[in-house]
Amino acid sequence: MLGNFSYLNATKLYFGDDSLKYLNEELPKYGKNVQIVYGSGSIKKNGIYDEVVRVLKENGKTIIEDAGVMPNPTVEKLHEGVRIARENHTDLLLAIGGGSCCDYAKAVSVSVNCDEEPWEKYYLRFEEPTCEIIPVGCILTMAGTGSEMNAGAVITNHETHLKIGHVFGPEVMPKFSILNPKFTFSLPKRQMVAGIYDIFNHICEQYFSGQDDNTSDYISEALMKSVIHSSLIALKDPEDYEARSNIMWTATWALNTLISRGKTGDWMVHMLGQSAGAYTDATHGMTLSAVSLPYYRYIMPYGLQKFKRFATEVWGICPEGKSDEEVAKEGLAAMEEWMKKLGVAMKLSEIGGTEEMIEGIADGTLILEGGYKVLTREEIVQILRNSL
Ligand code: NZQ
Ligand code: ZN
Repeated sequence: MLGNFSYLNATKLYFGDDSLKYLNEELPKYGKNVQIVYGSGSIKKNGIYDEVVRVLKENGKTIIEDAGVMPNPTVEKLHEGVRIARENHTDLLLAIGGGSCCDYAKAVSVSVNCDEEPWEKYYLRFEEPTCEIIPVGCILTMAGTGSEMNAGAVITNHETHLKIGHVFGPEVMPKFSILNPKFTFSLPKRQMVAGIYDIFNHICEQYFSGQDDNTSDYISEALMKSVIHSSLIALKDPEDYEARSNIMWTATWALNTLISRGKTGDWMVHMLGQSAGAYTDATHGMTLSAVSLPYYRYIMPYGLQKFKRFATEVWGICPEGKSDEEVAKEGLAAMEEWMKKLGVAMKLSEIGGTEEMIEGIADGTLILEGGYKVLTREEIVQILRNSL
């Protein structure tokens, strides 16, 4: 039965190859000081930086530089961003990049006016902000996380080996996001496929729970088919605008809170992957792909009917003359074949994971209860070993 819920998505999206021009409509809504948040320099190479700076100058904004946001942004970088924003009286945080820049901007936005230590308040105690939040805008250059239209912000603490995501309330969502599929053309193939697998897994995390007749699951199946279809086109031709557009739009829908309404979610692949990421600092999507198949093969018997549905509806497996288990297994085998075609990491050892890390990764894995099986610590260790 569909659970009870409320639904609000506060982000205004501008999508398309001319979408940057709408920055002119958004900027007048905010004060003069714009903190531009970006990574290690890809936006300088592909020209996006120059385009954005031109629009900011035309709108009379003071530009405050906040560069060097690393993939998997750290708690130290968060402190730096807060300091920059306080010193410069930032009115708008403008993230230009992938999920890391966007997540980081959100984490800064709730910390600038906060008297407490943000890591402890938001990431250890999972409290909600009680201070004024600096508005965030996003110019997306990598499709994957959905951060452009959600309130999630993941921060890594290397000292304690913890990578934790806080999903805040809708007031933390970006006020606007600009999605130009052409901005993703310069992504290296490894990042493109990591993003594609991240999208797919976000959908799986919300699909593999419950056995009811939920509209969200039908939407999820359509989104999964679209990602699979477009990914194969983009693999052959990364500049296929239609495929890259579909991938970008699907990424947003996969995690903009819609398909999670009215049902529980699983999210254990993300818990395992995030903990592995805290040890290896590997690309987010690759940490997920490395643990996915051992995890799904382990929980399949507990959610057999849904795995069977996944096989027939998403992968087109013919069920005739086969047991439910055989059909479900064929579905996962088809998924494995697709993952190999993409070229994502299939094992933790491919992304720097070692036997010595297993106990620590297991300790850092939050055990959630929304999926088909609430795992014990021993089972987590077993799944991680199977992923090596
Ligand atoms: O450093 P820059 O120059 O930005 O380069 C980045 C980075 O090296 C590069 N890149 C991005 N766009 C590019 C480009 N290179 C060339 N051309 C472009 N157009 O790609 C690399 C990865 O970027 P990053 O932002 O780290 O990737 P992604 O979008 O996958 O974000 C990952 C972070 O988001 C978190 C992850 O845990 C991770 O910390 N997540 C956030 C979620 C959310 N907010 O809901 C959910 C996700 O499950 C995820 O956990
Ligand atoms: Zn993810």
